[in-house]
Amino acid sequence: MTFSVPRSVTAQTRLCAVFGDPIRHSASPSMHNAAFDALNLDWRYLACHVLPEKLDEALKGARSMGFCGVNLTVPHKLLALPMMDSLDLSAQDWGAVNTVVFETQNKEGLWTPVGQSNALDGPVRTRGFNTDADALIQSLREDLTIDPRGARILLLGAGGAGRAAALRLADEGALVLWLVNRTTAKADALAQEIAERFPAVEVRTGLPDTDVEIIINATSLGLKASDPLPLDLANYPLCRADGVYDMVYRPSLTPLLDLAQRAGCCTANGLGMLLYQGAAAWTLWTGQIAPIETMRQALRSEIYRNTIA
Ligand SMILES: NC(=O)c1ccc[n+]([C@@H]2O[C@H](COP(=O)([O-])OP(=O)(O)OC[C@H]3O[C@@H](n4cnc5c(N)ncnc54)[C@H](OP(=O)(O)O)[C@@H]3O)[C@@H](O)[C@H]2O)c1
Repeated sequence: MTFSVPRSVTAQTRLCAVFGDPIRHSASPSMHNAAFDALNLDWRYLACHVLPEKLDEALKGARSMGFCGVNLTVPHKLLALPMMDSLDLSAQDWGAVNTVVFETQNKEGLWTPVGQSNALDGPVRTRGFNTDADALIQSLREDLTIDPRGARILLLGAGGAGRAAALRLADEGALVLWLVNRTTAKADALAQEIAERFPAVEVRTGLPDTDVEIIINATSLGLKASDPLPLDLANYPLCRADGVYDMVYRPSLTPLLDLAQRAGCCTANGLGMLLYQGAAAWTLWTGQIAPIETMRQALRSEIYRNTIA
């Protein structure tokens, strides 16, 4: 067995982290730390278990301690919106924050990412971005090999990831969107927003009355072995879809994906989405082009436990 020697942490080491509840499933540290090592950057990425009621406190703490950036996962992406000092257009458009950049103000009044500045004695603000939405579209095309443009799509979940996905899919030109969520009021409100902002897209709540090209799981069901399926198969069997995409990536084969494969659907887990949202965040923090193949390999090793070459 071989062990890699971790790079030592120094007084100059720059820090980033992912905050979530739960967090132990996260593969983000492997991906980001591999990218820092590949570019010989004295940076480290941590995973922190942050309860929703402590999110504001944790963000303030990270800002005070000079962190460069933070990713947000379940259940923080919607909660963080009103906590940001400033929102990038991506977070405004897709209605959720998954990437926070800490920015510092220089003497000329310009805001620069902390990770790209050496003068750290000025005021620091939080700026929220959404890198999930574009990452999903890219991963659907590459990993599921189905183009969301012109597609009929059943989307399960209207939390932070589901909301960003629904709005971005509408913007991408989905033909029809069906939205299903445990809290139906959230799906109703999202459908209303899509109808107003994207009138060319047909949007409905509830299960489809027809076949679809894509089913997307954007609920957190599948993370735990004891979770029920996110879809009522008695009322909508998986054979009615060409492809099934699960944003969950650990386990790599969720019960939903397993059943979808047996039903003859093409399938993909959320590894590709994780990769592309992470690469975009990495670039926002460091100002450098992310080493995407290094990050992909690190994720595959972590998630498939070296079973993929
Ligand atoms: N691969 C990636 O890069 C990537 C990116 C983003 C998210 N994700 C994954 O996507 C999932 C959702 O993340 P999120 O940030 O949107 O979380 P979130 O904001 O907490 O939303 C959770 C969603 O799951 C639903 N849900 C939770 N427990 C449920 C249950 N027992 N029965 C039915 N529905 C339930 C919620 O419904 P209610 O609205 O009724 O509470 C909501 O729609 C997570 O598994 C996350 O890891 C993956």
